[in-house]
Amino acid sequence: MGFFDSGLGGLCILDAFRRMCPGESTIYIADSANCPYGNRPPEEIVRLSVANTERLLGEGCKMVVVACNTATAAAIDVLRAKWPEVPFVGLEPAVKPAALKSRTGVVGVLATAGTFGGRLYRETKAKFAKDVTVVATVADEFVDLVERGETSGPDAERTVRAKLEPLLAAGCDMLVLGCTHFPHLKPLMEKVADGRAALVDPSDAVARQARRVLSARGMLAPGASEPFHRFARTGASGANMV
Ligand code: DGL
Repeated sequence: MGFFDSGLGGLCILDAFRRMCPGESTIYIADSANCPYGNRPPEEIVRLSVANTERLLGEGCKMVVVACNTATAAAIDVLRAKWPEVPFVGLEPAVKPAALKSRTGVVGVLATAGTFGGRLYRETKAKFAKDVTVVATVADEFVDLVERGETSGPDAERTVRAKLEPLLAAGCDMLVLGCTHFPHLKPLMEKVADGRAALVDPSDAVARQARRVLSARGMLAPGASEPFHRFARTGASGANMV
């Protein structure tokens, strides 16, 4: 099973998948050398996503999870067209469950500019968020925090508070984590929200979808196999296995 993200964010998807499918081997590419993807033009994100996918398929992956909302928005159609025989699972902000659960009728979505600019988000919002107000917030600062490993402490809390307080003041009772870096900041976000809003983390739903696709295609690993897990992080000098 191959996974890639612009960096460390998608590890939350990988963790959920490994919990659900302990028999599957995994390879994860963190493209940290090119992180963030959020403000790159779509063509560039496509180029990087194709390179990550080529590498995963070259390592023998049977399926690819695009563990990044931004890469999904820009590139999943291209990846599916280029490799029609490979199943791809991607991510988009979980607007639908948030809209269904909201009591205030105001839903906050945190994501990158690239995700908000994509067709998937536009279509999902038009379809499932007709009856609620959606407050969209770009939170690139959260990506930087997670890449630096700074997921706690007073500075990180200040950054999280600065993004969340306006959403809470606008009446949001659901906060959609529309970027895979953001679940890594859940403890801080929960502290700041202090019961005023629920966080909508799609990690388990994505892992379930990946398992469903594997099972529907008869691609689940045979029970007796011994799984391995590899992690690769691109660095200044290119792709380094670490
Ligand atoms: N983790 C990525 C996502 O889910 C985005 C982070 C970035 O800007 O690179 O959208």
